[in-house]
Amino acid sequence: MDKSTFTTKPIINGPMHAPLRHDSAHKHVTGTADYIDDIPEPIGTLHMGLGLSDRAHAEIVSIDLSAVETAPGVVCVLTGEDIPGFNDVASTGRHDEPLLATKDVQFHGQPIFAVVAETRDQARRAARLARIEYRDLPHWTDIDGARDNGAPLVVEPMVLKRGEPQTEIEKAPLRIQGSMSIGGQEHFYLEGQIALAIPGEDEDIIVWSSTQHPSEVQHMVAHVLGIANNAVEVRTRRMGGGFGGKETQGNHFAALAAVAAKKLKRAVKFRPDRDEDMTVTGKRHDFRVDYDVAFDEDGRIHAVDATYAARCGFSADLSGPVTDRALFHADSSYFYPHVHLTSQPLKTHTVSNTAFRGFGGPQGVLGAERMIEEIAYALGKDPLEIRKLNFYGQQGSDRTATPYHQEVEDNVIARIVEELESSCDYQARRQAIIDFNANSPVIRKGIALTPVKFGISFTMTAYNQAGALVHIYQDGSIHLNHGGTEMGQGLYTKVAQVVADTFQVDIDRVKITATTTGKVPNTSATAASSGSDLNGMAAYDAARQIKERLIDFACRQWEVDRSEVEFLPNRLRIGGEIVPFDTFVRAAYYGRVHLSAAGFYKTPKIHWDREAGRGRPFYYFSYGAACSEVSIDTLTGEYLVDRTDILHDVGRSLNPALDIGQIEGGFVQGMGWLTTEELWWDAKGRLRTHAPSTYKIPLASDRPKEFNVKLAEWSENAEPTIGRSKAVGEPPFVLAISVFEAISMAVASVADYTVCPRLDAPATPERVLMAVERLKQMG
Ligand code: MTE
Ligand code: HPA
Ligand code: MOS
Repeated sequence: MDKSTFTTKPIINGPMHAPLRHDSAHKHVTGTADYIDDIPEPIGTLHMGLGLSDRAHAEIVSIDLSAVETAPGVVCVLTGEDIPGFNDVASTGRHDEPLLATKDVQFHGQPIFAVVAETRDQARRAARLARIEYRDLPHWTDIDGARDNGAPLVVEPMVLKRGEPQTEIEKAPLRIQGSMSIGGQEHFYLEGQIALAIPGEDEDIIVWSSTQHPSEVQHMVAHVLGIANNAVEVRTRRMGGGFGGKETQGNHFAALAAVAAKKLKRAVKFRPDRDEDMTVTGKRHDFRVDYDVAFDEDGRIHAVDATYAARCGFSADLSGPVTDRALFHADSSYFYPHVHLTSQPLKTHTVSNTAFRGFGGPQGVLGAERMIEEIAYALGKDPLEIRKLNFYGQQGSDRTATPYHQEVEDNVIARIVEELESSCDYQARRQAIIDFNANSPVIRKGIALTPVKFGISFTMTAYNQAGALVHIYQDGSIHLNHGGTEMGQGLYTKVAQVVADTFQVDIDRVKITATTTGKVPNTSATAASSGSDLNGMAAYDAARQIKERLIDFACRQWEVDRSEVEFLPNRLRIGGEIVPFDTFVRAAYYGRVHLSAAGFYKTPKIHWDREAGRGRPFYYFSYGAACSEVSIDTLTGEYLVDRTDILHDVGRSLNPALDIGQIEGGFVQGMGWLTTEELWWDAKGRLRTHAPSTYKIPLASDRPKEFNVKLAEWSENAEPTIGRSKAVGEPPFVLAISVFEAISMAVASVADYTVCPRLDAPATPERVLMAVERLKQMG
């Protein structure tokens, strides 16, 4: 790709890099954006409900569905025996995830049968009438339980090693061993899982699915029906949030709706209610990090040896790449001269955990930040000083090698942190907080400034490809389609900006159309924050091809040189003549110019050898830093975030308004993960936090009282990405660690900052209070 293709100077009136509103913003807030449940139902649409296991691990002895079948409104009941193709929806090809369990169940809440009825209510009521006999088998639901039972794994662990960690740990002046538990997280997308399957002639079927991965839903539907991919079309206009929870978890609902629709030759809609959704879909992995860190009196890290264990649930799903990404981020922004990292993807009798914003990365970073805090408290220093001392070096220094042997080439973390430290007045505020705490018996404050370095690319190299389709119609209006999906993040707007910019037309001229496997095939999930990098480039490639043909046409028709054809806002200059864009397009049609093109992009430079633990898994890194100040009540454990300042690197922003929204949203979602959101399973393996009554996501009132978010405006991607931008979706989630560490400092004040609090995540008020009580006894 020619680097000069992308202007680095601002384009007058050009829409790329402009802070345009989300194309559907006004529809989101007025309730006029159509989600799948808003699509008019075809006549005779049926609805589904699930029959779930009420055992965590058991053999199924018998299933009696007679009462279900005769319940009011029931049209049919599906079991694993009724799947015409394969009773398997494992996205990994490991065949470890049946669509409906037949011989045994492996978690409390696993689907065993599905009911199809005239109404959703009838389907759900009927599902409760089944009589299922089980023979219980031993079960365990958490990391300790798995370790006590021989530590069974769902995928092979990954090991990263560089240098001589064992000898260096022995040799170093100081050493700390510890352990930290990190909780999981429910996605809590506002629009739950949903699919609408509409059967067609022969084997054909159309499935509307709320999914981040239409191509995978297509493949799953074909697989369970035992038909070819080309008989299945999957469509997704938008999701009401995905957050990783719709990367694989939509497969079940789409597959079941499709099986029922083909069997009954009627449209079938499947929309579980919130409790069912929370019970049967996977969540963020909780982790246990066991670390051994060696350092010197200055606080410089010499070596790290750490194990990252994860609760994966009963099947692999995405646990392999999730635990891999945890290891890829176990360095946070720090150079480990000698390092040994191991993942431990543990099998548990719980729902299979899955992608969630950050994809294991946040858990990896939190472990690293705990090690930094430990070192700081051990030496009686400000954790920020230890952070800065251990940052990766600049290119050319001998401190740029990651544990996976990729060099950090584009390091801007020191600059980001220094700018934020000074703009938020960190040093003075920290001193003021220490002074405040000395005289405040009940309320204590804390402040922390934490960095983010996040690797961008799917670590599975093949996924880093994308396609797009662009048509220009005779009236000069443009139709855009690409493989990415819209979940509120603004991808459709950004990609439309790219196309509008290429032709120098107003964004309104570009019609953004629903993602469909029929227009762009073999797409990857919209995930790994790479949506605009991949699809933006693919759309650019398609638009560029048409633009080339238009330029050729102008040269022929006007008998001018290429240098005399210029795309101006909504018009062209051709020789001495100014021609409106639509007039020109119509002329091109009459000149028989092909006004449609398919574009393609694959990320260059990346490769990864998991066996060897070596390669360049990431095309580049996105950076950022946040400084948060909190107050805790040492009598109740309650807390408030008083202020947060963020400086974040998105390269040259494709759309600063959307990017700031992503940073704010990611940060608050991360705060929820680290503070109030707690998943809890009882001894029977039943998830007891399956509704908003017991599971607490952040409220609007939980946002930092003062919230200053800025983009690092000087940043430009060193790699020739679309518009020199950087990915934004997931990295800001990690910024919330500043809140966690600020709470930790407020707790530490109770023992005069002499002990690093053993605070596990989430730092719920109960955990904060217990940590305070522990320290009171020590202090
Ligand atoms: N923003 C909104 N509003 N809704 C979402 O579901 N998902 C996040 C992030 N931002 C999400 C979001 C996740 S997990 C990812 S991977 C990215 O968006 C995916 O989109 P992108 O690649 O276009 O950034
Ligand atoms: N991130 C997000 N989703 C993914 C990844 C990844 O690295 N790999 C496979 N699915
Ligand atoms: Mo995002 S967790 O990669 O869907």
